[in-house]
Amino acid sequence: GGSPSPRHFLELMDLDAATLRRMLELGVQAKRGQVPGKPLAGKSVALIFEKPSTRTRVSFEVGIRQLGGDAIVLSSKDMQLGRGETPADTARVLSRYVDAIMLRTDNVAKIRELAEHATIPVINGLTDVSHPCQLMADIMTFEEHRGPIAGQVVAWTGDGNNVAQSFIQAAARFGFTLRLATPPELAPPAELIAWARAEGAKIELTTDPHAAVAGARCVVTDTWVSMSDETAQEKVNRHNLLAPYQVNEALLKHAAPDAVVMHCLPAHRGEEITDAVIDGPQSVVFDEAENRLHAQKGVLLWALGQA
Ligand code: CP
Ligand code: NVA
Repeated sequence: GGSPSPRHFLELMDLDAATLRRMLELGVQAKRGQVPGKPLAGKSVALIFEKPSTRTRVSFEVGIRQLGGDAIVLSSKDMQLGRGETPADTARVLSRYVDAIMLRTDNVAKIRELAEHATIPVINGLTDVSHPCQLMADIMTFEEHRGPIAGQVVAWTGDGNNVAQSFIQAAARFGFTLRLATPPELAPPAELIAWARAEGAKIELTTDPHAAVAGARCVVTDTWVSMSDETAQEKVNRHNLLAPYQVNEALLKHAAPDAVVMHCLPAHRGEEITDAVIDGPQSVVFDEAENRLHAQKGVLLWALGQA
């Protein structure tokens, strides 16, 4: 025994502000072409997907290659994991083949079990309750366009979902004020809000999207129906509850005149966000998507101890 625990990237709350800042800075350096050589040469990373993905899949695979490493993309359907092999045994085996594992899962308990039994870093590529890689890209994007996010007001309107829950954690770690407007039925967990406030975060909860957006420097939303909510009944229910939370030009008028609009994508145009907003001058959503590539390089370089 005695080996140090691997550098997992599971939840923003698990890491301190200085560590997250350092990772983000590494990502910015990678974007600027200031990460020389092939720091992941000889390293293999398994990318495991239990759910569909465009951005996470391609940005991790390309990013690992650009850093000189090898990526192995796996669907859980094609793995024994998909027919009942435990995350613990999967972790024990993959730890002997590869240097890091990224997992996108429908159940956060699985990634916790994987990390507990892996002797290599485990990276969270989205769970039902979190999406920390997205937040690293989102912070990078805001700061590129508007400077330091600390002290700024970010407004979330819509579902209190996995991305919203990582925004709450990010507010604690990056020092911005987060106003969340959600229907009461879809509010983020009270324990998470309590945690963030205890960490000193400024979190304001409302059911009124106008109140949340008023004067905000950044307006963020996400799909009404996440990948874990796709039953027919849930879809109807969510469309009814979330219609008043759409990001449209009328809502955006309440934000700061220079507010940026973010969305992790995929967007459901005409539902949570209108074409006019997502294609409009305040939208930074495609820079945000690009920054997944750069921000995750920072995460990989940190996790694999190459920086
Ligand atoms: N934003 C995001 O994670 O997109 P994908 O589902 O396409 O990976
Ligand atoms: N909340 C969305 C994010 C997709 C990247 C989902 O979980 O489906």
